[in-house]
Amino acid sequence: MEVKRVSIREAKKRIKNDPELSKMLVRSGWKEIALDLDGDGFADVSFSCEKAGRKIDTMAVDLNGSGEYNLYLHDFDGNGIPDTVIFMKEGSEEQAVVAFGGEVELGFINLGVRVANLLVAEDFLNKELGLSLADLAAYLKAHAVAMLAEIEKRENATGIDKVYYFLEDAQTYYLATVEGNQPRVRPFGTILLRDGKLYIQTGRVKAVSRQIAENPLVEICACQGGTWLRIAAELVEDDNHDAKVEMLEKMPALKAMYNADDANMQMFYLKDAKAVFSSFTAEPELIEF
Ligand SMILES: Cc1cc2nc3c(=O)[nH]c(=O)nc-3n(C[C@H](O)[C@H](O)[C@H](O)COP(=O)(O)O)c2cc1C
Repeated sequence: MEVKRVSIREAKKRIKNDPELSKMLVRSGWKEIALDLDGDGFADVSFSCEKAGRKIDTMAVDLNGSGEYNLYLHDFDGNGIPDTVIFMKEGSEEQAVVAFGGEVELGFINLGVRVANLLVAEDFLNKELGLSLADLAAYLKAHAVAMLAEIEKRENATGIDKVYYFLEDAQTYYLATVEGNQPRVRPFGTILLRDGKLYIQTGRVKAVSRQIAENPLVEICACQGGTWLRIAAELVEDDNHDAKVEMLEKMPALKAMYNADDANMQMFYLKDAKAVFSSFTAEPELIEF
């Protein structure tokens, strides 16, 4: 399984670009970021690394809401998978240190992954330490309602929403075009769901744009863990100014290269899309939009 980890610097950038998360940021250091999820003034979750600016290697969670972290996930060997869980009962010196069995990404990637980290950790703690899932559910309800709502929305998504969240979480997908009888493929990351349409963005000056003009039939492939998504679709150009603005607001890094009024920025939405989710363990799922 490919493991993605983000540096503390990258995590900070992501938090600052997210209006919800930036409101929760209570500490933003070289080696630690802390978020106050419920606005009570205490940090509920912290992401840290041993050396300034490095990849995040530790996540600490305040499971009791008492202002004290009592759950630590630490990635000693730096492979992105927490290998140690340290759980401290409230008001006690007692620590339980346990090797972590599950494969989870340790890092500040998105809401879905963060909550998944907590849930996997809790599942493990439940088995090893008798800390119940109900405790975590209560914690999440009390302290992270927004996070829970977001993960539920993502996990229960169907149709085009499911495709959108998968591409968002994957961060990078691969867009294939054809040039004559030669396939061309390259990494893409822009993705926006707007008015029930899934948009991608490129620059008119690029070869990919010329290829789409000549033949708008494309395929997209993305993968996360053991699941891959393949979408065959026709791209339709949409010059809608608001859609361009929305894309730039959603992905502010694009602003260094494009603006909504330049002649270069180009948006396409997917038409007659056939999206198939596949894995080694489940039947393929076809979603058409
Ligand atoms: C992670 C990643 C994401 C990218 N996302 C986009 C994107 O959304 N749109 C785009 O036009 N280029 C994107 N690029 C750059 C293109 O891959 C690059 O310009 C490529 O050469 C375009 O294909 P072409 O050479 O056939 O025109 C991305 C590159 C990387 C590494």
